[in-house]
Amino acid sequence: PRVLVLHGPNLNLLGTRQPEIYGAETLDDVNSLLREKAVAAGWDIECQQSNHEGVLIDAIHDARLDGTQAIIINPAAYTHTSVAILDALNAFDGRVIEVHISNVHKRESFRHHSYISLRADGVIAGLGIQGYLVALESIIKAYKK
Ligand code: DQA
Repeated sequence: PRVLVLHGPNLNLLGTRQPEIYGAETLDDVNSLLREKAVAAGWDIECQQSNHEGVLIDAIHDARLDGTQAIIINPAAYTHTSVAILDALNAFDGRVIEVHISNVHKRESFRHHSYISLRADGVIAGLGIQGYLVALESIIKAYKK
């Protein structure tokens, strides 16, 4: 089985961007931890980051065709704006877990609404980068059932 991990805009700056909110670990750290866990469970994993909405949408379209079972997505700011990413995910048949590093509900009110949550099978917020690992664990477990 195969899982796609998608990171939205500004997450390439993880580790240096507002570390008081997003922590000190880099995106490479996150992806390495995910890769380790996925490989140990016998899963293929692809991790992608883009600052461009259309690139994220294209990656979701590719996932429809290449046998991807599940998507872990942190859409970052597009969470709160992107009907287009929601529509792309609605065209994907597998499991979708939405991850936010910070607790978006504790922050500005514009971060309280997520278009992506209309599609997500699960939503994790506020666990730091551990949220990605919990998301992956849930996907591996759900697939075994
Ligand atoms: C975020 C929360 C979003 O509101 C924000 O725009 C981000 C990151 C998070 O991981 O906590 O860029 O998705």
